[in-house]
Amino acid sequence: MSGETAASLKPVTGAGLHVPVHLGVIMDGNGRWAKARGKRRTEGHIEGVKALRNLVELSINYGISYLTVFSFSSENWSRPPDEIAFIFNLLRRFVASDLQRLIRNNVKVRIIGQRRGLEESLVRLIDDVEAKTAMNTGLTLVVAFNYGGKAEIVDAARSLAEEVAAGRLRPEDITEQRLANTLSTVGIPDPDLIIRTSGEQRLSNFLLWQAAYSEFVFIDEYWPDFNEATFLSVIEAYSARDRRFGGLGAAVS
Ligand code: IPE
Ligand code: IPE
Ligand code: MG
Repeated sequence: MSGETAASLKPVTGAGLHVPVHLGVIMDGNGRWAKARGKRRTEGHIEGVKALRNLVELSINYGISYLTVFSFSSENWSRPPDEIAFIFNLLRRFVASDLQRLIRNNVKVRIIGQRRGLEESLVRLIDDVEAKTAMNTGLTLVVAFNYGGKAEIVDAARSLAEEVAAGRLRPEDITEQRLANTLSTVGIPDPDLIIRTSGEQRLSNFLLWQAAYSEFVFIDEYWPDFNEATFLSVIEAYSARDRRFGGLGAAVS
Protein backbone atom coordinates (compact mmCIF):
# COMPACT_ATOMS: atom_id res chain seq x y z
CA MET A 1 0.00 0.00 0.00
CA SER A 2 2.90 2.36 -0.53
CA GLY A 3 2.07 5.55 -2.38
CA GLU A 4 4.37 4.70 -5.31
CA THR A 5 2.78 1.35 -6.01
CA ALA A 6 -0.74 2.70 -5.60
CA ALA A 7 -0.07 5.42 -8.15
CA SER A 8 1.51 3.08 -10.66
CA LEU A 9 -1.46 0.74 -10.78
CA LYS A 10 -4.41 1.49 -13.02
CA PRO A 11 -7.90 0.46 -12.01
CA VAL A 12 -9.54 -2.10 -14.29
CA THR A 13 -11.81 -0.27 -16.69
CA GLY A 14 -13.34 -1.23 -19.99
CA ALA A 15 -12.18 -4.41 -21.74
CA GLY A 16 -15.31 -6.14 -20.42
CA LEU A 17 -13.76 -6.64 -17.00
CA HIS A 18 -16.06 -6.62 -13.99
CA VAL A 19 -14.58 -6.13 -10.58
CA PRO A 20 -16.58 -7.86 -7.82
CA VAL A 21 -18.04 -5.59 -5.17
CA HIS A 22 -17.16 -8.19 -2.54
CA LEU A 23 -14.26 -10.60 -2.96
CA GLY A 24 -13.76 -13.47 -0.53
CA VAL A 25 -10.42 -15.24 -0.33
CA ILE A 26 -9.51 -18.56 1.25
CA MET A 27 -5.78 -18.05 1.61
CA ASP A 28 -4.61 -21.64 1.55
CA GLY A 29 -1.29 -23.43 0.98
CA ASN A 30 1.15 -21.57 3.24
CA GLY A 31 2.44 -24.82 4.74
CA ARG A 32 2.89 -26.58 1.41
CA TRP A 33 4.58 -23.49 -0.05
CA ALA A 34 7.14 -23.68 2.77
CA LYS A 35 7.55 -27.45 2.55
CA ALA A 36 8.24 -27.25 -1.19
CA ARG A 37 11.15 -24.94 -0.34
CA GLY A 38 12.50 -26.98 2.56
CA LYS A 39 11.35 -24.32 5.02
CA ARG A 40 9.30 -24.50 8.18
CA ARG A 41 5.50 -24.06 7.88
CA THR A 42 5.77 -20.86 9.91
CA GLU A 43 7.84 -19.30 7.13
CA GLY A 44 4.94 -19.97 4.79
CA HIS A 45 2.65 -18.05 7.13
CA ILE A 46 5.08 -15.10 7.14
CA GLU A 47 5.09 -15.04 3.32
CA GLY A 48 1.31 -15.39 3.40
CA VAL A 49 1.03 -12.09 5.28
CA LYS A 50 3.08 -10.39 2.54
CA ALA A 51 0.68 -11.76 -0.09
CA LEU A 52 -2.24 -10.46 1.98
CA ARG A 53 -0.70 -6.99 2.17
CA ASN A 54 -0.33 -7.06 -1.61
CA LEU A 55 -3.93 -8.21 -2.07
CA VAL A 56 -5.23 -5.33 0.08
CA GLU A 57 -3.30 -2.92 -2.11
CA LEU A 58 -4.63 -4.53 -5.31
CA SER A 59 -8.18 -4.44 -3.96
CA ILE A 60 -7.88 -0.72 -3.26
CA ASN A 61 -6.39 0.02 -6.66
CA TYR A 62 -8.90 -2.02 -8.61
CA GLY A 63 -11.91 -0.62 -6.78
CA ILE A 64 -13.10 -3.61 -4.76
CA SER A 65 -15.41 -2.42 -1.95
CA TYR A 66 -15.27 -5.41 0.40
CA LEU A 67 -12.46 -7.92 0.81
CA THR A 68 -13.00 -10.83 3.20
CA VAL A 69 -10.01 -13.03 3.96
CA PHE A 70 -10.05 -16.34 5.83
CA SER A 71 -7.11 -16.26 8.19
CA PHE A 72 -7.94 -18.77 10.94
CA SER A 73 -10.85 -21.19 10.99
CA SER A 74 -12.62 -22.58 14.03
CA GLU A 75 -11.29 -25.96 12.89
CA ASN A 76 -7.67 -24.74 12.81
CA TRP A 77 -7.57 -25.30 16.60
CA SER A 78 -6.76 -28.91 15.73
CA ARG A 79 -3.25 -27.86 14.61
CA PRO A 80 -0.16 -28.12 16.83
CA PRO A 81 -0.19 -25.48 19.61
CA ASP A 82 3.05 -23.85 18.44
CA GLU A 83 1.65 -23.26 14.95
CA ILE A 84 -1.54 -21.80 16.43
CA ALA A 85 0.50 -19.50 18.68
CA PHE A 86 2.57 -18.41 15.68
CA ILE A 87 -0.52 -17.53 13.61
CA PHE A 88 -1.99 -15.58 16.53
CA ASN A 89 1.25 -13.66 16.92
CA LEU A 90 1.27 -12.93 13.20
CA LEU A 91 -2.14 -11.28 13.56
CA ARG A 92 -0.81 -9.12 16.38
CA ARG A 93 2.26 -8.20 14.35
CA PHE A 94 0.19 -7.45 11.25
CA VAL A 95 -1.95 -5.04 13.26
CA ALA A 96 1.10 -3.41 14.84
CA SER A 97 2.94 -2.97 11.56
CA ASP A 98 0.04 -2.14 9.23
CA LEU A 99 -2.53 -0.23 11.26
CA GLN A 100 -1.18 3.23 10.39
CA ARG A 101 -0.97 2.33 6.72
CA LEU A 102 -4.52 0.95 6.73
CA ILE A 103 -5.75 4.18 8.33
CA ARG A 104 -3.85 6.28 5.75
CA ASN A 105 -5.38 4.21 2.96
CA ASN A 106 -8.91 4.79 4.30
CA VAL A 107 -9.43 1.05 4.98
CA LYS A 108 -12.15 0.05 7.41
CA VAL A 109 -11.29 -3.18 9.25
CA ARG A 110 -13.84 -5.64 10.58
CA ILE A 111 -12.91 -8.85 12.31
CA ILE A 112 -15.50 -11.63 12.24
CA GLY A 113 -15.41 -14.91 14.12
CA GLN A 114 -15.85 -16.04 17.70
CA ARG A 115 -14.23 -13.82 20.30
CA ARG A 116 -14.96 -16.06 23.23
CA GLY A 117 -12.02 -18.35 23.74
CA LEU A 118 -9.55 -15.70 22.56
CA GLU A 119 -7.11 -14.09 24.96
CA GLU A 120 -8.33 -10.89 26.56
CA SER A 121 -5.44 -8.87 25.11
CA LEU A 122 -6.17 -10.12 21.59
CA VAL A 123 -9.84 -9.18 21.89
CA ARG A 124 -8.78 -5.70 23.03
CA LEU A 125 -6.48 -5.40 20.02
CA ILE A 126 -9.25 -6.46 17.63
CA ASP A 127 -11.69 -3.97 19.18
CA ASP A 128 -9.03 -1.27 18.94
CA VAL A 129 -8.36 -1.85 15.21
CA GLU A 130 -12.06 -1.79 14.45
CA ALA A 131 -12.57 1.39 16.46
CA LYS A 132 -9.58 3.19 14.92
CA THR A 133 -10.72 2.43 11.35
CA ALA A 134 -14.48 2.65 11.90
CA MET A 135 -14.78 6.10 10.31
CA ASN A 136 -12.88 5.12 7.16
CA THR A 137 -14.88 5.04 3.95
CA GLY A 138 -12.66 3.14 1.48
CA LEU A 139 -12.13 -0.60 1.23
CA THR A 140 -13.73 -2.67 3.98
CA LEU A 141 -11.26 -5.39 4.96
CA VAL A 142 -13.07 -8.20 6.75
CA VAL A 143 -10.74 -10.60 8.52
CA ALA A 144 -12.34 -13.96 9.32
CA PHE A 145 -10.38 -15.01 12.38
CA ASN A 146 -11.46 -17.90 14.59
CA TYR A 147 -14.35 -18.03 12.16
CA GLY A 148 -16.62 -20.91 11.20
CA GLY A 149 -19.74 -20.57 9.08
CA LYS A 150 -21.71 -23.22 10.97
CA ALA A 151 -20.91 -21.64 14.35
CA GLU A 152 -21.96 -18.26 12.98
CA ILE A 153 -25.37 -19.63 11.90
CA VAL A 154 -25.82 -21.40 15.26
CA ASP A 155 -25.07 -18.14 17.10
CA ALA A 156 -27.65 -16.34 14.96
CA ALA A 157 -30.26 -19.07 15.55
CA ARG A 158 -29.63 -18.91 19.28
CA SER A 159 -29.95 -15.16 19.43
CA LEU A 160 -33.21 -15.22 17.44
CA ALA A 161 -34.53 -18.00 19.71
CA GLU A 162 -33.75 -15.83 22.74
CA GLU A 163 -35.71 -12.96 21.19
CA VAL A 164 -38.69 -15.29 20.61
CA ALA A 165 -38.45 -16.74 24.14
CA ALA A 166 -38.44 -13.23 25.57
CA GLY A 167 -41.58 -12.40 23.60
CA ARG A 168 -39.87 -9.73 21.49
CA LEU A 169 -40.06 -11.63 18.20
CA ARG A 170 -42.65 -13.86 16.56
CA PRO A 171 -41.39 -17.02 14.79
CA GLU A 172 -43.09 -15.88 11.57
CA ASP A 173 -40.98 -12.71 11.63
CA ILE A 174 -37.81 -14.77 11.14
CA THR A 175 -37.02 -14.16 7.50
CA GLU A 176 -33.88 -14.54 5.40
CA GLN A 177 -33.22 -10.83 5.85
CA ARG A 178 -33.69 -11.07 9.60
CA LEU A 179 -31.30 -13.98 9.86
CA ALA A 180 -28.75 -12.27 7.61
CA ASN A 181 -28.94 -9.22 9.87
CA THR A 182 -28.11 -11.44 12.85
CA LEU A 183 -24.90 -12.78 11.28
CA SER A 184 -21.48 -11.25 11.89
CA THR A 185 -21.49 -9.94 8.31
CA VAL A 186 -24.51 -7.70 8.89
CA GLY A 187 -24.43 -4.75 6.50
CA ILE A 188 -21.94 -6.39 4.14
CA PRO A 189 -23.27 -7.58 0.76
CA ASP A 190 -22.78 -11.28 0.00
CA PRO A 191 -19.49 -12.14 -1.73
CA ASP A 192 -19.75 -12.01 -5.53
CA LEU A 193 -16.64 -14.07 -5.95
CA ILE A 194 -14.78 -16.46 -3.66
CA ILE A 195 -11.32 -17.65 -4.59
CA ARG A 196 -9.23 -20.37 -3.01
CA THR A 197 -5.59 -21.02 -3.65
CA SER A 198 -3.54 -24.23 -3.34
CA GLY A 199 -5.68 -26.46 -5.55
CA GLU A 200 -8.22 -27.42 -2.87
CA GLN A 201 -11.80 -27.10 -4.02
CA ARG A 202 -13.89 -26.72 -0.88
CA LEU A 203 -15.28 -24.02 1.40
CA SER A 204 -13.89 -25.41 4.68
CA ASN A 205 -16.69 -23.65 6.60
CA PHE A 206 -16.09 -20.18 5.07
CA LEU A 207 -19.14 -17.88 4.71
CA LEU A 208 -21.62 -20.75 4.29
CA TRP A 209 -24.77 -18.64 4.32
CA GLN A 210 -23.29 -15.73 2.40
CA ALA A 211 -21.85 -17.90 -0.39
CA ALA A 212 -25.29 -19.05 -1.62
CA TYR A 213 -24.81 -17.32 -4.99
CA SER A 214 -21.10 -16.61 -5.07
CA GLU A 215 -18.99 -17.48 -8.06
CA PHE A 216 -15.96 -19.67 -7.31
CA VAL A 217 -12.49 -19.63 -8.79
CA PHE A 218 -9.95 -22.21 -7.65
CA ILE A 219 -6.29 -21.54 -8.26
CA ASP A 220 -3.51 -24.12 -8.16
CA GLU A 221 -0.78 -21.87 -6.81
CA TYR A 222 -0.09 -21.61 -3.09
CA TRP A 223 -1.21 -18.49 -1.26
CA PRO A 224 2.29 -16.91 -0.78
CA ASP A 225 2.69 -16.89 -4.60
CA PHE A 226 -0.51 -14.92 -5.18
CA ASN A 227 0.31 -11.76 -7.14
CA GLU A 228 -1.17 -9.17 -9.49
CA ALA A 229 -1.08 -11.51 -12.51
CA THR A 230 -3.09 -14.11 -10.56
CA PHE A 231 -5.46 -11.41 -9.37
CA LEU A 232 -6.10 -10.25 -12.93
CA SER A 233 -6.62 -13.78 -14.23
CA VAL A 234 -9.21 -14.31 -11.50
CA ILE A 235 -11.03 -11.07 -12.33
CA GLU A 236 -11.01 -12.10 -15.99
CA ALA A 237 -12.51 -15.50 -15.18
CA TYR A 238 -15.16 -13.85 -13.00
CA SER A 239 -16.00 -11.34 -15.73
CA ALA A 240 -16.87 -14.17 -18.12
CA ARG A 241 -19.40 -15.73 -15.73
CA ASP A 242 -23.14 -15.48 -16.34
CA ARG A 243 -24.70 -15.00 -12.92
CA ARG A 244 -28.29 -16.16 -13.21
CA PHE A 245 -29.55 -16.20 -9.61
CA GLY A 246 -32.11 -18.80 -10.63
CA GLY A 247 -33.28 -16.75 -13.61
CA LEU A 248 -32.41 -17.16 -17.25
CA GLY A 249 -29.40 -14.87 -17.47
CA ALA A 250 -27.62 -13.08 -20.29
CA ALA A 251 -27.56 -15.99 -22.74
CA VAL A 252 -31.36 -15.99 -23.00
CA SER A 253 -32.46 -12.46 -22.20
C1 IPE B 1 -3.46 -21.44 5.11
O1 IPE B 1 -2.36 -22.25 4.84
C2 IPE B 1 -3.32 -20.67 6.40
C3 IPE B 1 -4.13 -21.21 7.51
C4 IPE B 1 -5.01 -22.16 7.44
C5 IPE B 1 -3.95 -20.57 8.81
P1 IPE B 1 -2.21 -23.67 5.51
O2 IPE B 1 -1.52 -23.50 6.81
O3 IPE B 1 -3.52 -24.36 5.55
O4 IPE B 1 -1.23 -24.39 4.48
P2 IPE B 1 -1.40 -25.86 3.93
O5 IPE B 1 -2.79 -25.99 3.39
O6 IPE B 1 -1.15 -26.80 5.06
O7 IPE B 1 -0.38 -25.97 2.84
C1 IPE C 1 -9.07 -23.07 5.47
O1 IPE C 1 -7.88 -23.74 5.20
C2 IPE C 1 -8.86 -22.03 6.53
C3 IPE C 1 -7.98 -20.92 6.16
C4 IPE C 1 -7.47 -20.70 4.99
C5 IPE C 1 -7.73 -20.00 7.23
P1 IPE C 1 -7.52 -25.14 5.87
O2 IPE C 1 -6.18 -25.49 5.39
O3 IPE C 1 -7.74 -25.06 7.32
O4 IPE C 1 -8.64 -26.08 5.25
P2 IPE C 1 -8.68 -27.67 5.09
O5 IPE C 1 -8.37 -28.28 6.41
O6 IPE C 1 -7.65 -28.05 4.08
O7 IPE C 1 -10.06 -27.96 4.59
MG1 MG D 1 -4.55 -25.55 4.28
